[in-house]
Amino acid sequence: MNWFKDARFGMFIHWGAYSVTERGEWTFNREYITKEEYTEKYVNNFKAENYNPREWARLAKRAGMKYMVLTTRHHDGFALFDTKTSDFNAVKLGPHKDLVREFADAVRAEGLKVGFYFSPADWNHPDYPNAYLRDWPDEWADEAARKRFVAYYKEQLRELMTNYGKIDILWYDGCIPKPLDGEEVNAMVRELQPEIMISSRNGRPYDFVVSEQAIVAPKEDIPWEACMTLNGNWGYHSGDMDYKTPKEVLKMLFKTASDAGNLLLNVGPKPDGTIPEQSVKILERVGEWLEKNGEAVYASERHPFSWGMSHMLTVKGSTVYVHLLYAMPENNICIAEIKNKVKRVYRLATGEEHRFEQREDGRLFIYDVNGHFENDMVLTYAVEIEGQPEALIKRTSFWIPGEED
Ligand code: GLC
Repeated sequence: MNWFKDARFGMFIHWGAYSVTERGEWTFNREYITKEEYTEKYVNNFKAENYNPREWARLAKRAGMKYMVLTTRHHDGFALFDTKTSDFNAVKLGPHKDLVREFADAVRAEGLKVGFYFSPADWNHPDYPNAYLRDWPDEWADEAARKRFVAYYKEQLRELMTNYGKIDILWYDGCIPKPLDGEEVNAMVRELQPEIMISSRNGRPYDFVVSEQAIVAPKEDIPWEACMTLNGNWGYHSGDMDYKTPKEVLKMLFKTASDAGNLLLNVGPKPDGTIPEQSVKILERVGEWLEKNGEAVYASERHPFSWGMSHMLTVKGSTVYVHLLYAMPENNICIAEIKNKVKRVYRLATGEEHRFEQREDGRLFIYDVNGHFENDMVLTYAVEIEGQPEALIKRTSFWIPGEED
């Protein structure tokens, strides 16, 4: 589990037959498409002809990511792996190869941790209730159908946990409707993969919780992760150009890291298997920053501080990292947060000592801040303190501007 607490940044990959639709991963359901039409138009044209997961993994590494999570089967039910449970899979149809095998081998070979996203929900399965109902079904047709369905998805997980070597994460989604006998299924998963980290959506016991399209730390002290899209969609959408900027990605990373969480950032490869150029550029830019400043993020701890308008903070041991987001009108930044005595301030990327003053009332001023921005994005200072970080003023609420409670 330690690797997960240190990792802080991972790549989420939504890729499947739906990528051929070029309009997200829910097309099958949203557009009320029949399985025949979905198979003919999309599954059969899913060729993965330029699929090279080694390149995905190398990109993830350049971006500073430590693990990768692939949609081995999304809600459309089309398995990217070889399965004896159904012919609706990538070996029998579409690419005619086991995409998950190549993924697992490549990610491991590049020294990253291997994660499998898996959705029990399956719109293609005859026992899945009201597959074409809008949104999620809330009950099973009858107990026999439910039992058959649970046996089916459990068997797919048994295959995934048996045939692909060591798996580091099982990432559940679409665990609806209940009951899905998650406890029993997770017990099997753990027997097959004793060191795996299981996400919280399919019953206990689980190892981490997930916050989706929002960065909200759990109240309890448990490993957690926020999963976020890079544009507005999980699956490839050829028209969606609403990409976050590299700086916005860094801000998300600071927010998760400051509460000791990980950021699982999504890419939606094209049907041929290549990651859109815009995504590649953003990730590489983030990676350049992390290469010099990663210390402020990896293995970060929960910080006791409040919020500021021009900066974000992360902490580790006896260092507080000040991430300055903007050039400053008075050419300095005032941090009225740190109770501890400050010993030293330096620019993290260069190691250069920096001029500062800690006044009697505890306010820390870092001077001459303008003109030093790394990649024009964020300027990070390491503030070395005495002891463990303590807040100057007790945090009275967890209210942060722009955040819903
Ligand atoms: C939602 C969506 C799904 C996506 C997931 C990612 O649950 O149903 O399409 O894969 O979020 O967390």
